[in-house]
Amino acid sequence: MHHHKFNDFPQDFLWGAASAAYQVEGGWDADGKGPSVWDLFTKLPGKTFAGSNGDVAVDHYHRMEEDVALMAEMGLKAYRFSVSWPRIYPTGRGEVNEAGLAFYEKLIDILLAHQIEPVLTLYHWDLPQALQDEYGGWEDRRIIEDFERYCVTLYQRFAGKVKYWVSLNEQNYNLTNAYQLGTHPPAVQDRKRFFAANHIAFLANARVIKAFRQHVPGGLIGPSFAYSPAYPASCDPKDMLAYENAEEFTNLWWLDAYCFGRYPQAALAYLRENGEAPEILPGDLELLREGTPDYIGVNYYYTLTYTDNPLGGQTMQRINTTGKKGTTPPSGIPGLYKTAPNPHLETSNWDWAIDPTGMRIALRRLSSRYGLPLMITENGLGEFDKLAAGDRVHDDYRIDYLRSHVKACQEALQDGVELLGYCAWSFTDILSWLNGYQKRYGFVFVERDEQGGSLRRLKKDSFFWYQSVIASQGKQL
Ligand code: BG6
Repeated sequence: MHHHKFNDFPQDFLWGAASAAYQVEGGWDADGKGPSVWDLFTKLPGKTFAGSNGDVAVDHYHRMEEDVALMAEMGLKAYRFSVSWPRIYPTGRGEVNEAGLAFYEKLIDILLAHQIEPVLTLYHWDLPQALQDEYGGWEDRRIIEDFERYCVTLYQRFAGKVKYWVSLNEQNYNLTNAYQLGTHPPAVQDRKRFFAANHIAFLANARVIKAFRQHVPGGLIGPSFAYSPAYPASCDPKDMLAYENAEEFTNLWWLDAYCFGRYPQAALAYLRENGEAPEILPGDLELLREGTPDYIGVNYYYTLTYTDNPLGGQTMQRINTTGKKGTTPPSGIPGLYKTAPNPHLETSNWDWAIDPTGMRIALRRLSSRYGLPLMITENGLGEFDKLAAGDRVHDDYRIDYLRSHVKACQEALQDGVELLGYCAWSFTDILSWLNGYQKRYGFVFVERDEQGGSLRRLKKDSFFWYQSVIASQGKQL
């Protein structure tokens, strides 16, 4: 046990940055890779900002060594990336594609050579299209076995090299878009199917965590959850109830299923009443309890504030994908809750509330309810960046955002939270799923837009800022 002053970050704190396969790799059909649901979905007219897609993305697949060299220069302690399932199994199952495994093995080896801890995400939304076509992907229990086979392939190959694993990335956000808003593939809007698909994803998550214990002794695994803590708009009991409803329906539904192996009571009662509850078969809840995580990955961007929503009131609305500030309508479930603006908080151009205290609150709520270690697996600011004279990018707004959130981590440590690390989103600029290339997150600017570009890598001001944060162990913020 090492000792550290209360306001210090632990010696082994994982100062990291993150990415996801579809958003950075490109090489969409390279070396035997099969198509994912995103390869097809982004080609349908009107689905993404300006028709952007990840065919090339930032070409990380071909520039991996250059990117890792930049990570090493920065002094990064951890790099979170995702494996593309259809690179490993082009049609979801069957013959393993050795070239796909070899790509990730090389990435992992180069990271380790630079003392950068790999944090491997098993699933960041790029489902093999073949499984969507064959049985409807997450809507069929057959996916549990296919997902397990794919995960075990990675466990067996990388058990000795990778200690930190993420099972499902943002199941809540991805499936809400996929089955309620119709904005991610397969673009369905049906609440019953939404809860059914989630139930199957919980079972798959538990199965691969259970298998992990056999194959990766000493490793740690958990899902990454998109946690937007709920606030009440006021102390009016109506708003308090709306906030309680929202916290159960938008957060605890997933968190309790992952960590307790059960669904929150009031939400489950409501869904049963409405005929929207998932079918729970004998053995399901036992499996959930056998596959609880070692830690919770937290993707934190913003809090949401809730108010009363009458029957016949506001329904679910899609988010701002244009960067035109102030264009996000309120969204909710009639009779339960709807979002309201928070007058105390500034927002980004995409209307996301900037709330570092909300991250401290998020970490405290999770730590006290579940008693598990936590890792910030994503946190960052998506903004328009301008390339300035001398190939510089002066992203002081991003530095301000990150600094205030790193401080919130420090405060959460003082509050007694066991925090393993902080992975900023993202290392290089990325393709933002629905927002194209104009919504940038990286420490490293990539010269490209919706039409393409040179793909040159340029260090932003935030790169040098984070470099000194890491070098000073968080003392120089
Ligand atoms: C999370 C995802 O939703 O947040 C990332 O895990 C994503 O893949 C990030 O890029 C930021 O969201 P967006 O929509 O601004 O790209």
